[in-house]
Amino acid sequence: MDSYFIVGGKELEGEVEVDSAKNALLPIIAGCILVDGEIKLENVPKYSDVLAMCKIIEHLGGKTKFINGSYINQDLYLDCRNIVYSDVPNELACCVRSSIFTLGSILGRKKLAKVSYPGGCDIGLRPIDIHLAGIRQLGCKVVDKNGYIYADASKLKANDVMLSFPSVGATENIMMLAVFAEGETRIFNPAKEPEIVDLQNFLNSCGAMISGAGGNIIAIKGVKKLHGCEYKTISDRIEAGTFMIAGAMCGKQIVIKNADAQHNQELISKLLKTTCKLTCYDDKIIVEKADKLVSFGEVETAVYPGFPTDLQAPMSSLAAVSEGYSLIIENLFESRYKHIGELMKMGCDIRCKNGVCIIKGKDKIYGAEVVAPDLRGGAALVLAGLVAEGYTTINNIGLIDRGYYKIEDKLTRLGADIKRIECEKRMDNCN
Ligand code: UD1
Repeated sequence: MDSYFIVGGKELEGEVEVDSAKNALLPIIAGCILVDGEIKLENVPKYSDVLAMCKIIEHLGGKTKFINGSYINQDLYLDCRNIVYSDVPNELACCVRSSIFTLGSILGRKKLAKVSYPGGCDIGLRPIDIHLAGIRQLGCKVVDKNGYIYADASKLKANDVMLSFPSVGATENIMMLAVFAEGETRIFNPAKEPEIVDLQNFLNSCGAMISGAGGNIIAIKGVKKLHGCEYKTISDRIEAGTFMIAGAMCGKQIVIKNADAQHNQELISKLLKTTCKLTCYDDKIIVEKADKLVSFGEVETAVYPGFPTDLQAPMSSLAAVSEGYSLIIENLFESRYKHIGELMKMGCDIRCKNGVCIIKGKDKIYGAEVVAPDLRGGAALVLAGLVAEGYTTINNIGLIDRGYYKIEDKLTRLGADIKRIECEKRMDNCN
């Protein structure tokens, strides 16, 4: 995989535009499998996870193509009218967690599915028991064998589905499966993330009848068919949050465009404690760092609208350079602290035990050669590299590419000194 080479210590200034939300796009692409018509998704960045989902659609017999737009954001056309296959093999599922979303949509469309266990970032066990329990409650037979889920929806029927935990992925899978279930399905204790509301809005634009997303009960009235549509997803609250944290750490003034402050309320309340200056408008957020950063206090991850687990790692980089002690508690994924060891190589003062991190802020951290352990942990290392004294090399950045499209270009335009070193060139230098 490629690496980043960062010369730390530059202040960031200027405008940056947030892309369409990765975590909204991936289930929506899976949702296209249900649709008997052409879909145009506007402004889709070529995140590697998006490309992986397109490969799955093509394997099933659908068509995908990117056209128009800027070199970063293009429109993605998907045509699943001629879907013929109903299996997702391991070699396509293993590189992307969201491959599991195709279980609900393939099953809804084809009534039979064979889908491999998903891959994705190694941040914990990430079971799919809640997905499978929900699918069974809709009358489907499910067998979990040899790394594959075999499911039969010939007796698909609307029902009340009670989730034991408001899992984002399980809620999305069940919403998609229920679209063609005769009668009314109600999902109790669903996830409430903005990406769930976006999936509802997308499916409704194709003729589905879903209501209640974002609230305590989602109701889905079964329909016979979905038609094509044009759709633009919400902006990426995690990318926006990453730039907000960057602004708090080293922003002379960053204007973050296409950012929805409503989706980042918890982050905003924490950032204000650091004494950075933050101003929110309808579709942009402006952040300026404080003369002296102070600790945000405590962050405990929780389901939406709580503090997002995806921003926990970037917050640890902020804490590492904020005066005082900060506490981070990760409640959702048991192995989401792998970046901490890498931050310690950069001189950060962190103690981590039983899912709790105590971080003592330092005036200075320094560059080092580190490895991105996962997507958001990798983003945390980029942020640390921006403020570190000297040079930072981050290896394994293919994991960062999964959810930030060419973040080095955006940071360079803001004044950062960051370069991508392609894997082949690095090998040449070794010889
Ligand atoms: C999604 C996001 C991910 C984010 C996470 C939490 C996408 C593509 N990914 O992941 O970026 O970090 O939401 O906001 O949208 N769980 C079970 N059994 C299940 C399903 C989940 O025990 O069947 C547990 C998980 O182990 C975890 C918690 O529930 O502890 C949350 O997982 P979930 O909400 O399902 O996250 P994902 O959909 O995997």
